[in-house]
Amino acid sequence: MEINVQRGDITNHPAKAIIVALYEGTAPTGPTAAVDQRLEGAISQLVKDGEARGKANELTLLHTFWRIPSPRVLVLGLGKAEECNLEKLRNAVAVAVRHLRSLGVDTIATVTHGADAQGLDPEACAQAIVEGAVLGLYTFQRHKKKDEDTREISEITLVEREATKLRALRRGVERGRILAEAANWARDLANEPANYMTPSDMAERAKAIAAERGLEFQVFERKDMEKMGMGALLGVAQGSHQPPKLIVLHYRGGKEGATPLGLVGKGITFDTGGISIKPSQGMEEMKSDMAGGAAVIAAMSAIAQLKPKINVTALVPATENMPGGGAQKPGDVVRALNGKTIEVINTDAEGRLILADALSYACRLGLSPIVDVATLTGAIVIALGRAAMGAMTNNEAFLDRLRAASQASGEKLWQLPMYDEYKEHIKSEVADVKNVGNREAGSITGALFLQEFVDNTPWVHLDIAGVDQAEKEKGVLVKGSSGIPVRTLVNLALSLAQKPLPKK
Ligand code: BES
Ligand code: ZN
Ligand code: ZN
Repeated sequence: MEINVQRGDITNHPAKAIIVALYEGTAPTGPTAAVDQRLEGAISQLVKDGEARGKANELTLLHTFWRIPSPRVLVLGLGKAEECNLEKLRNAVAVAVRHLRSLGVDTIATVTHGADAQGLDPEACAQAIVEGAVLGLYTFQRHKKKDEDTREISEITLVEREATKLRALRRGVERGRILAEAANWARDLANEPANYMTPSDMAERAKAIAAERGLEFQVFERKDMEKMGMGALLGVAQGSHQPPKLIVLHYRGGKEGATPLGLVGKGITFDTGGISIKPSQGMEEMKSDMAGGAAVIAAMSAIAQLKPKINVTALVPATENMPGGGAQKPGDVVRALNGKTIEVINTDAEGRLILADALSYACRLGLSPIVDVATLTGAIVIALGRAAMGAMTNNEAFLDRLRAASQASGEKLWQLPMYDEYKEHIKSEVADVKNVGNREAGSITGALFLQEFVDNTPWVHLDIAGVDQAEKEKGVLVKGSSGIPVRTLVNLALSLAQKPLPKK
C-alpha cells in the first residue's frame, strides 16, 4: 500500500473515497465544511436529521454524483472535539479504512484529522492516521487459497493545503508507517501456526529482518547454552525435538561503549505445558506464546529504520515446551546462568525459566535498563482483563519512562506491586527459588521470580498475556495477534536516546 502526502484541496481529489471528520455535537467545520458546501449542504443536512452525529467511529457514506471528483465521501465520527486524542484517531481511521476496503474502494484521500480539533500536533496526527490505517487493514491469509474477490487498498493520500506543513506531515507518515509495519511483522510471526514457527523458523525470520535492516545477528545453539550454563532454558527445551535458539540482535546507534538498552522477549513457539500439561480446549492459542519475542525483534527492526542515537540489544530465548520422553519433570532442579538453582514445581511455568537465563545473560552483557516482554501468566487476564498489559518493576523512574512511551502508542499498561510479602510464595525447600507460588497474585509472583535474575539493573517486566491477542476486530486490532507492545518499545528507545535514564 502506498501512502503519500500531497499538497492540494481535498474537495478536488479524485480518490475513490475521501474521508472527512465530524465531531459530536457540532456542525461540519474546516475541510468537512468545504466538502459539505460542494455537496450542497448534504452533510449538514444529515447532521440536522440526526443521521450523522459524529459519535466516535460512526461512519456515514455519501455518494457525490459528480459534484466533486471523488465518487464517495465517508464522514467519520471522532466523538467530542475536546475529547479527541491520538488513540481515538488511530482507532477511528482503522474502522473507516476497513469499511472502505469492504466496499471495494482501492484509493483513499484524507486530511489530517485531529489537527483541527483541540490543536493536536499535525505531525503526531499524521502518524496516528497512518498507524490506524496500516494496523487496521492487517490480514493474515498465508495459509488460505486466494479469494477471487480479495479487496485491497492500494493508495492512501494525505491532502494538505498549506505547503509549510508538508514536511512535518511526511515525517509523521514515515514514522507511522515504520511503527505499524513493525507491529504487523510481529503479528505475522505470532499468527503463524507452530509447525511453521519453530525456534529455528523464528531465528531465520530474525536473521532475515536483521539483514534487511542492517542489525547484527547472533544465535546461540544448544551446545552454546550447555557451555554457558543456561540450565533453565535447556530444561524447558529438553522435552522437544526442535532445537532451542537464543536469538540476539544488536543495534548500534549510540556512542561506542555506551550502555545498551536491553529488550528481552519470551519465545515459546508452542506451550503445551510440558508434563504439567494444559487442557486441550484452547491449547491451539499457545502457538502465540512467542509474541513477546516477536515484539522485541520487530521493535529492533523499527529502531534500525528510525536510527535513534542509542545502543539496543534484543535477546529472545526460543524453544517449544513439550512433554516428550526427555522432558523435565515437576520437582526437577535446574541451575540458571547466574548460578541460582530453581525447583521446577510446574513445567507450565516455563516462560519464567527461559527468561531466567535470558535476563541473566542480559546482565552479563551489561545491558541497562532492561524490559522483558512475555505472555507470562493467565492470572494477568484475571487481574486486568484485555485492556492493559501488566507492568512490574524494581525501578519506578524507569517505569515512568515506559509509561510515557505506552501513552504515546495507545498500548495501555498498568502497574502491579512487587511487595516483599509476595516473595514468600516462591521460596523453595530444595533450591534457591521455585518457579510457581500458590494461585494468589500469580502475575506478581511470576515477576518476583524474574527479579531474581536481573541483579539491580533497572528493569520492567511486561506481562502481555491479556493483550497479545484480540478476539475480534476493534479499532486498530483485528482478530488474532495484536502486535502489542512493539510501538511502545520503539517509543521507549526513542525517548531514552533523547534523555537517558539517570544513573544512580
Ligand atoms: N503461556 C502461559 C500463559 C498464558 C496463559 C498466555 C493464557 C496466554 C494465555 C504460561 O506459560 C503459563 O502456562 N502460565 C501458567 C503459570 C502457572 C503454572 C503458575 C498459568 O498462567 O497458568
Ligand atoms: Zn506455560
Ligand atoms: Zn507459556
